[in-house]
Amino acid sequence: MTENADPAFSQGHTEDQPTIITVGEGNGQGGQNLGYDVVVGRGLLSRLPEMVGTQAERVLVIHPRALRATGDVVREDLENHGYQAVVAEIPDAEEGKHIQVAAFCWQVLGQNDFTRSDAIVSVGGGAVTDVAGFVAATWLRGVRVVHMPTTLLGMVDAAVGGKTGINTAEGKNLVGSFHQPAGVLADLDTLITLPRNELVAGLAEVVKCGFIADEEILNIIEAAPDQAQNPHSWQVRDLIERAIRVKAEVVGQDALESGVRESLNYGHTLGHAIELAERYQWRHGAAISVGMVFAAELGRSLGRIDDATADRHRDVLTSLGLPVTYRDDRWNQLLEGIRRDKKNRGDTLRFVLLNGIGRPATVEIPDASILYSTYQEIAEPASPVISL
Ligand SMILES: NC(=O)c1ccc[n+]([C@@H]2O[C@H](COP(=O)([O-])OP(=O)(O)OC[C@H]3O[C@@H](n4cnc5c(N)ncnc54)[C@H](O)[C@@H]3O)[C@@H](O)[C@H]2O)c1
Repeated sequence: MTENADPAFSQGHTEDQPTIITVGEGNGQGGQNLGYDVVVGRGLLSRLPEMVGTQAERVLVIHPRALRATGDVVREDLENHGYQAVVAEIPDAEEGKHIQVAAFCWQVLGQNDFTRSDAIVSVGGGAVTDVAGFVAATWLRGVRVVHMPTTLLGMVDAAVGGKTGINTAEGKNLVGSFHQPAGVLADLDTLITLPRNELVAGLAEVVKCGFIADEEILNIIEAAPDQAQNPHSWQVRDLIERAIRVKAEVVGQDALESGVRESLNYGHTLGHAIELAERYQWRHGAAISVGMVFAAELGRSLGRIDDATADRHRDVLTSLGLPVTYRDDRWNQLLEGIRRDKKNRGDTLRFVLLNGIGRPATVEIPDASILYSTYQEIAEPASPVISL
């Protein structure tokens, strides 16, 4: 991982220069095309042609209805740079991660004679990144894609790392592939219109990066939780950059999620079970917030982390307004969800836990009874339940 880190910036002194974080170096496992840049800054549109490249003649801009104005600006800019730009406007959020939406995009690509050297640009949150990445991975067996994430979660997580996917009637993200982008433009100005609860939900993934790899993230949030939620603040920029660096480092080592990349699943085992139990009406960040507190309690019960580290989870997440408890009448349902986790091997349940801040490890839990007793630490009476 390389970057043009400006030491003054990380202390919040200047915001003028974009920061470039490179994901991996050259080709990774399974032919994954690593070595791409994630650019973080403000007013980054002028960098798009460079990322789309000179080989492409046609560019498909995929955006949700909610971001029509932004999508139009991107299309116009590409046309001004000589590309033939076409737009595919897709349904918002999870509605967009549907096979029929992918089929619509394939139709647009086909009708406009897109070849293997042409490109796709995604403009939107993680849902758009996922479906646009999937379309790019599958059209002519793979074309160039540039992501322009417009949510905090999209910037720190979905746009980086090459996971693409759509949902099926049987569940979320069941169909997809790994397809690394040619580049990512994370323009912080787009966060200004993002609803606060979306921003805060994205911060849960940032906190996760703090616990698994970069304690300074936790220090920054603890020093000024309000500024961590202010899209104009230097803290938000610093937090985003730090979280991207954590993800870039891990993805650079394990592009296909066969080893260290599992550490990015901290808090996700119970988190996914909560999302399932809530039929995806909870935001992902809210669910993994509870999941991280659970993992911390499990780590405390197993003697892997001390009381201060376990308590720090609850404190930092609460300071951002993220939930840290879940209803006490759903354990059996949650256990069912935990058993479906992709990290499990046969009947052995596996959790990512900490051996200290910055020291994640995947741990086998041979006896599910410890999970139930740990759950009592985060359970609360069933009603009222307030979702973020
Ligand atoms: N591929 C990965 O590695 C990865 C990682 C994490 C999450 N994801 C996926 O990402 C999705 C969640 O992403 P998300 O949280 O960004 O949600 P999202 O894409 O559904 O966006 C949330 C909402 O915010 C709106 N929005 C987006 N940008 C906006 C802006 N700048 N101003 C105002 N509104 C804006 C969207 O229209 C949408 O209604 C899930 O489908 C998840 O599976 C993928």
